[in-house]
Amino acid sequence: MDTMTRIEHALRAAMAIGEAPGAPPRLAAAMRHAVFPGGARIRPQLCLAVARGCGDSDPALADAAAVSIELLHCASLVHDDLPCFDDAPTRRGLPSVHSAYGERLAVLAGDALIVRAFQTLGLAGARSPLRMVRVMGTIGPGVGMPFGIVAGQAWECEPRVALSDYQRAKTGALFAAATAAGAEAAGADGDAWRALGEWLGEAYQVADDIRDVMADPAVLGKPIGRDVALGRPSSAIEQGLLGALEHFDRLVACAIEAVPPCRGSAQLRELVRMESERLVPKAWSVQITRDHAVATHKAAVRRPSAPTTAP
Ligand code: FPP
Ligand code: MG
Repeated sequence: MDTMTRIEHALRAAMAIGEAPGAPPRLAAAMRHAVFPGGARIRPQLCLAVARGCGDSDPALADAAAVSIELLHCASLVHDDLPCFDDAPTRRGLPSVHSAYGERLAVLAGDALIVRAFQTLGLAGARSPLRMVRVMGTIGPGVGMPFGIVAGQAWECEPRVALSDYQRAKTGALFAAATAAGAEAAGADGDAWRALGEWLGEAYQVADDIRDVMADPAVLGKPIGRDVALGRPSSAIEQGLLGALEHFDRLVACAIEAVPPCRGSAQLRELVRMESERLVPKAWSVQITRDHAVATHKAAVRRPSAPTTAP
């Protein structure tokens, strides 16, 4: 079974746990809307790729780790789109959950998905309970306080934050949990795999900032220009597009470098390379570099020349 089919299959099974006749049907529909159809499913892909690289000796637990991370990610997007945060009308090319089902059901759908994520992990722990406890101990902090994605979002409510602290918590923490949990599900040392997730997560957030400026909203499936409109910390704003692009390239190189030696290391490096090109297409790099060169040239031409002194 290829990785994407494996992920969709496991997600459907996890969502079915909570569907029963007599349950509130609109909440069930709002939860499904949050999860299907998905985005790139990059976090569960990464989790399973690491589990495979480490031998994949408990595939059911690896699936549960991947699903749990994706459900938590989906929950976070439902809440992030709410009027009290980004007030986004669309997500993945469809109405956001609060636009389709209202704010109250969107809050509840996010809550129920968080619970489902941990329920799914618990149910997969029969074969190796100790590994499951380790995986849960990795995924929890990737989400909560003090350094998980909830903490990352909370920095938006503070008057000041260092951009890299914000990016590390808001995005890097769940990526790091994905790589570490993938290793732990296969019985390997999660800590050895953290750096890969951390670099990749930070790169992903920088790419998201670049996409907020460069992307076509119809292709992206969500509005652009929100970071400027809402005054969010953003690499594209703080460093300029060229600075953000250079930062992104450095982070991707660090991520590739951080892949620990293992059976699947070549495929993992290839996954990181391919994902980086999907996030920031080569054509954008060319355009950003060219626009910067044109702007620099225009500024130089406009600059008045120094007065010449008579001999
Ligand atoms: C998207 O960021 C949002 C996140 C990466 C995390 C949001 C986290 C929360 C809302 C905390 C609650 C967490 C849970 C588990 C319910 P973005 O706005 O930069 O990207 P976007 O353009 O895709 O919206
Ligand atoms: Mg948002």
